[in-house]
Parts: sequence; C-alpha cells; structure tokens
Amino acid sequence: MQLCDRKVIVTGGASGMGRHFCLRLAECGATVYASDINEEGLASLVDQGNGRISSGLCDVSREDQVVEMVSDACRKMGGLNGLINNAGIFLDSMLVKKESDGQTVRKMPLEKWQKVIDIDLTGPFLCTREFAAKLIETDTRAGVVVNISSVSRHGNQGQSNYSAAKAGLVADTKLWGLELARYGIRVGAIAPGFIHTPILDAMRPEIVEGVIKRIPLRRLGEPEEIWQGIRFILECDYFTGRCLDIDGGVVV
Ligand SMILES: NC(=O)c1ccc[n+]([C@@H]2O[C@H](COP(=O)([O-])OP(=O)(O)OC[C@H]3O[C@@H](n4cnc5c(N)ncnc54)[C@H](O)[C@@H]3O)[C@@H](O)[C@H]2O)c1
Repeated sequence: MQLCDRKVIVTGGASGMGRHFCLRLAECGATVYASDINEEGLASLVDQGNGRISSGLCDVSREDQVVEMVSDACRKMGGLNGLINNAGIFLDSMLVKKESDGQTVRKMPLEKWQKVIDIDLTGPFLCTREFAAKLIETDTRAGVVVNISSVSRHGNQGQSNYSAAKAGLVADTKLWGLELARYGIRVGAIAPGFIHTPILDAMRPEIVEGVIKRIPLRRLGEPEEIWQGIRFILECDYFTGRCLDIDGGVVV
C-alpha cells in the first residue's frame, strides 16, 4: 500500500511513539486521524500536522467510544485504509511479593491486571473489529492493521498483566491476519524493545543504565526506528500475520 493519500487511524497518537508515527505519516502524504484520551496532546499534534491530521478523544477500552471513533475517523477522512493500534499503558507489580518485614505478602491487585488487559488487549480488539467491519461495509479492499506489542510479550518479571496483553496481541495478529485476508486486509505487529519516549524519561537514570547493559546494541531504540518497521508493514503487500521484533537484540 502506498502511503500517499491513504487514510490512517493512530490510537494513542497524542504522545511518544504514536505522535511520531502521526507526523511521519503526514509527511508521507497520508491523511491521519489521531485518537487518544489526552486532549491537550491531540490539539498540539493537529496544530503541527499541516492540515493532514485530525483527531478525536477516545478511550480504546470503551466499546461505545471506539464505535464512535472509527465512524468519526471514516467521516472526517472520507474512508479508511490503515489502523495503528498503539495506545497502551503498563502498571507493573509482582504477582506476589514478600515484604521486608518477612511476613506480609503483597499481591498484584486485580484492578492493575484488569486495566492493562482492558487498554492493551481489549482496546486493539475493539479498534480492529470496528475498522475491519467498516472496510467490509464500504467494500474497501486495501486495509492494513499494525499492532504495537512489546519485547515483554516473551515474559518480563513484574509484568504479568502487560506481558499477557502484548503476547495476546501477537496471537491475535496471526488470527486476524488469517481471518481478514479474504477481505484484502493485512495485519502485522511490531514488538519494540526499550524505546526512548516519555515513559522511559520518567524512570530513574540508574534503572535506564541497567536496562541498556542488557541490550546487545548498548543503547535505547528511537521512535524513528519503530516507524521504519511500521512503514515496511504498511507498504509491503505480501506481509501479514507476523510480528517484527525491533529491540536491539535484547531477546536474542
Ligand atoms: N516506550 C517503550 O519502550 C515501549 C516498548 C515496547 C512497547 N511499547 C508500546 O508502545 C506503545 C506506545 O508507547 P509510548 O512509549 O509511546 O508511550 P506514551 O505513554 O508516550 O504513549 C501512549 C499513549 O497512549 C495514550 N493512552 C493511554 N491510555 C489510553 C486509552 N485508554 N485510550 C486511548 N489512548 C490511551 C496515552 O495518553 C499516550 O498518549 C504502547 O502500546 C507501549 O506499550 C513502548
């Protein structure tokens, strides 16, 4: 799929990698609809978009909001061709942890489990379902979905919720790739390693240094390097049902 004049939704477009993808897509001549829960971030993105980026508030874990968001995107852009399921959060906690008093056992709260599953797995399910339904209804036979998973899909301590969601998203990438091929819709995923975004800026420098020591290429990735993978998946018409790990070799 050529990017020029294609119509692409990016969830979580207000900040970090999603924001970078929106700006790159617009530079390539695509029409972009950014959705997020961050109203201020969306407004400044639209200002930067040279008339190629529109936006809508949407919590991807809410079915009613996703149904409305995909219809709004289709209306504002005059059709749909691409969806980047990028919105995501993490809320880390060990499953159980013995406290320093040697007696108390702290448990991962159900709310932490559920919130991450709702946003990182149910969100992409709802967005992809609505996107695919709209393409089929409008007989658009050129559609691509890109799911943003994570290196944590292989399992990362303290991330039962996040690892389950991101691994589930890769499983669904395969399934949706199979189920949607008959409608001309391709589905791919990217599993980024540790990428330089505001999420990591919030971590203590010594923790970031520890992370970098575990990466064979000895540095964090940049949003641009994830964009290169997204661009490949969007443009390569023979790619579907697969996940690209772009992680500096961290899981090799
Ligand atoms: N930064 C990394 O190192 C890294 C590594 C692997 C995977 N990822 C994944 O990449 C994606 C983007 O991460 P980022 O680092 O750019 O983070 P970020 O926090 O900068 O961006 C995430 C965006 O998602 C939005 N969002 C949060 N909850 C939402 C909801 N319920 N509905 C709609 N939007 C919501 C946020 O407002 C924010 O704009 C996430 O899915 C994340 O899990 C990030």
